[in-house]
Amino acid sequence: MGQIYAILGDIHANIDALKAVLEDARARGATRFACVGDMVGYNAAPAECISIVRDELKCPVVCGNHDRYVSSNMSLTDFHPVAATVVEWTRQQLASDDLDWLRALPMQKPVMGFTLVHSTLDMPEHWGYVFDSLQASAHFVYQKTPICFHGHTHVPIVYEECALGALCLPPENFKIPVGKKFFVNVGSVGQPRDGDPRASYVLFDTGTRELRFRRVAYDIIKAQARIRAAGLPERCAARLVTGS
Ligand SMILES: [Fe+2]
Repeated sequence: MGQIYAILGDIHANIDALKAVLEDARARGATRFACVGDMVGYNAAPAECISIVRDELKCPVVCGNHDRYVSSNMSLTDFHPVAATVVEWTRQQLASDDLDWLRALPMQKPVMGFTLVHSTLDMPEHWGYVFDSLQASAHFVYQKTPICFHGHTHVPIVYEECALGALCLPPENFKIPVGKKFFVNVGSVGQPRDGDPRASYVLFDTGTRELRFRRVAYDIIKAQARIRAAGLPERCAARLVTGS
């Protein structure tokens, strides 16, 4: 008998979205969890989100670019100024054991017949964005498991390996066929960017091989209030409403 995994990504310190997603996942039978990184950044509850993933879910996790930058002294010149402001704020919020934990996260992780990575298996440390079939083709060269889950773009989508490289498929529920390879973007829990403000995540049944894309409404007003109370950039609050 299989297990139902909830695959979460780009939580970005949004505790209100994370709690709503966990409630939705458990109501649909999820007993296992996995996380494709970026637990911090953009929103105002980084320590709370780390605590849930690390201490409550105790699930496999990989490192996202925000996790890496927050837990190091790396220059933020590559970051958008808004993102950089929140990275600097987050560095001040976290205890040393939280920072140590983020710093030790792996770049990729094999789980039960699938792999986790934040961006792409094609040089994951470069944090490349996969927005098209060409970029997905480069990734498939390195994917050894039938399924790889990722995030980073905050846009849920599916790529299927094919003779020409990769096919792009919409984020709709389907059964993973045996003998094929899929690269699945689970979207973002804490800051969706596909025009739908609801939190995004994926359920995967390892027995039936069914993949389900979920969207969950949560208390955006509460998340915005946290951002404003923390003095973080207004853009971080505004974009939660539009999902952009
Ligand atoms: Fe992200």
